[in-house]
Order: sequence, then structure tokens, then C-alpha cells
Amino acid sequence: MKKNIETSLSHIAKFAPFEEQAGASHFPIYNTGTFDLKKQDSSGKVYDYTRSDNPTREMLENLFTEVEGGAGCVCTHTGIASVALLFETVLKANSHILVEADCYGGTFRLLKIFKEKYNVTVHFANFLEFDKMEEILKNNPIDLVLCESPTNPGLKIIDLKKVAQLSHKHEALFAVDNSLATFISQRPLELGADFSLFSTTKYISGHGAVVAGAIVAKTKELSDQIHYYANAGGKSQNPMDVYLITLGIPTLKVRMKEHQENSLKIAKFLEEQDYITKVTHPGLKSHPQYELAQEQMDYIPGVFCVDFESLELAERFIENTKIYGEKCSFGSPDSRVEIPAKISHATFSKEELAAIGIAEGTVRFSIGLENVEDLIEDIKQAVK
Ligand SMILES: Cc1ncc(COP(=O)(O)O)c(C=O)c1O
Repeated sequence: MKKNIETSLSHIAKFAPFEEQAGASHFPIYNTGTFDLKKQDSSGKVYDYTRSDNPTREMLENLFTEVEGGAGCVCTHTGIASVALLFETVLKANSHILVEADCYGGTFRLLKIFKEKYNVTVHFANFLEFDKMEEILKNNPIDLVLCESPTNPGLKIIDLKKVAQLSHKHEALFAVDNSLATFISQRPLELGADFSLFSTTKYISGHGAVVAGAIVAKTKELSDQIHYYANAGGKSQNPMDVYLITLGIPTLKVRMKEHQENSLKIAKFLEEQDYITKVTHPGLKSHPQYELAQEQMDYIPGVFCVDFESLELAERFIENTKIYGEKCSFGSPDSRVEIPAKISHATFSKEELAAIGIAEGTVRFSIGLENVEDLIEDIKQAVK
């Protein structure tokens, strides 16, 4: 029987590679470095060393493989480690990669490193402009196409089906960073991508208590490759952190609904304030890709950007707020704000930020699970 995602998320132990004798609801944390080769079950898989394979991690990898609709997964010790693993798997010295210009600052920094150390040519483009993308794909030997959707921090919605078709037409692999939407809302592999990767630090673990990531491959061949490079480069997640991630997973859907509802109420409130010049939230009708967002995602995540009338007012708000922490990251129960130019995207120049619609004083909100009226009242008192 094909199960719906939330049913799978509520029974994670069923994804363990073998059944626990006592029938515990939570599969044990196999917190071990090594396994005795003489004591392996002759009918099953052989475990030797946790960097290569571990039953606790395998359980989470099996779950992510199923809910993303892939052939295999590697859970990594951070979200950026999944991006690095993707690059190490697909790119070679002198490779070409096509990347949406609006990407996470850590991905941008990593691309710079690949460019400087391995002479990888990085082509940045606006993935809403298919003609320009096609020009680049036609004229360069692109190995990999990469984007987020929604993008962070610009919150653009990319037509993943179209980008997958375009990438494959030119024999490039296509990877989607699904950190913002998560698989409860959007499944890139079903839309044609070859990899879906995500930071589980955020909505998936959901409590801001751990840093981790995962990458799911569409085919067995690509899955074997990511496993090979994960083992070679020591990218895999430790079992204790796997356990922490599993604690948040069953509530992903209910949390996403609440993040969506709270953030939309606040975005609508802010849109009406005369000290605000722009609100960018993919769930607002004013968003340029509102319809695509509704079509491509089941839930709109609770992250949005706001331009205050001045940098001074944005900073005053952040200084005076009593509820919103000035913190990077998103997807936690506590609401937070940050100025991307100062924190998460400090690796971008002012011009690079302007090109993706982010001003010096743009504030990125990640709305949590607090009472929404408290959150609105706090904004009112903080801007006074
Ligand atoms: C879109 C996106 N991808 C990847 C990452 C990296 O994840 P982590 O911080 O878990 O390494 C982040 C972190 O903010 C992100 O926003």
C-alpha cells in the first residue's frame, strides 16, 4: 500500500533496516564507531564502520528516500555538507555549473572555493529567464544546474519542471535545494530533478536544536555515487544527531501549516503599514510568482522579506523587539529576524545583493509558532 507522507513521518522506526526485538517505538541510537564483522547477520547487510553505514542513520536515509521519491539518500552532518557532497560527486576540475544567482550565502562561498581551487566555471543566472539559461546551456559544457525554490533570501519561485527539462535537454544534472519548502510541501524529484538536498537544521528537525542535512538521489547509480563520496570525504551524520532530527519529524506537517498561517497574517499586516515599502512572501497575491507557488507547493513556508522605509528603522525594530531574536537560520518554533546583508548573505557584495532584489536594510523574517497577535503587537511597539 502506498502511504501518504504524514503516515510515514509518524512511523519512522518502520524505516529501520531491521526490526527491534522489543518493538520500541523509537529505534535505538547505535552510537558506535565499529561493528564486529564476525557477528553480522549472514542474511542481511554487513556493518563495519559508522562513517560508511550505521543502522540508525540508515533508518532516516530510508525515510527521506521514500518521502522524496528517490532511490537513495545520505544524511550529512550539516546542510552545507550536502551541498559540498553534491559538488564533490558531480563536479571535476574545469567543470561548468549553472546556479540561480539568488542562492544561500554558504553555497555562494563554496562555489567561490570550487572556482578558485578547481577552476570550476560558475555561471550565475536568473532562473526566471529561460532564454538566457538556454543560451548558457547551449554554449557551455554544463555538468550541473542548481537552484533553491523558494530562493533564500529573495523568495523567488522557480518552475522546477521547466528547469529539469531544460537541464536534461542539454545533458546536465539538475539539483534542487529543498531546505525552505521541504518534502512535505514540494518534491523536486517528482518534478524531474536528479537530486533533492536540504538542511534538516531547519523545518525538518524543527526545533533549532541541531545542525544537519541530507541529499536524496533519483537513481540507484547516483545514489551509489553520493554514498561513495560521503564515505570517502567523511560527510555522514552521527547517530546521536540522527536521533535528534527524528524527534521533530512527525510534527512537520502541523508545524508547516502553522508557520504558513502565522507568517501570512504578519506579512499582510506589514503590507498595510506605511513605514514598509515592500513585502516579499510567496503566499501573498502581490508576489510575482504567486500562482506557481500555489501550484508547486502544498504549504508556503514561514519565511519572508521586508523592506523598511530606511535602514535606521529596520535596525530600530530589531533593537527594540522583545520576541524576535536576531538570529540566522529559519524553521524554528521561535520567530527570528536578520538582515541578510549582515548575516546569512554577508559573502555577497552590495551589487550582488541588489541584483537579487535585496537591499542593505532588507529584513528576513522567519515566523515561528508563537501566538500571532503577540508577534504583531511586538512589531507595533518596536517601531515606535
Ligand atoms: C537554502 C539553504 N541551504 C543550505 C543551508 C545550509 O544548511 P546548514 O546551515 O544546516 O549547514 C542553508 C542554511 O541556512 C540554507 O538556507
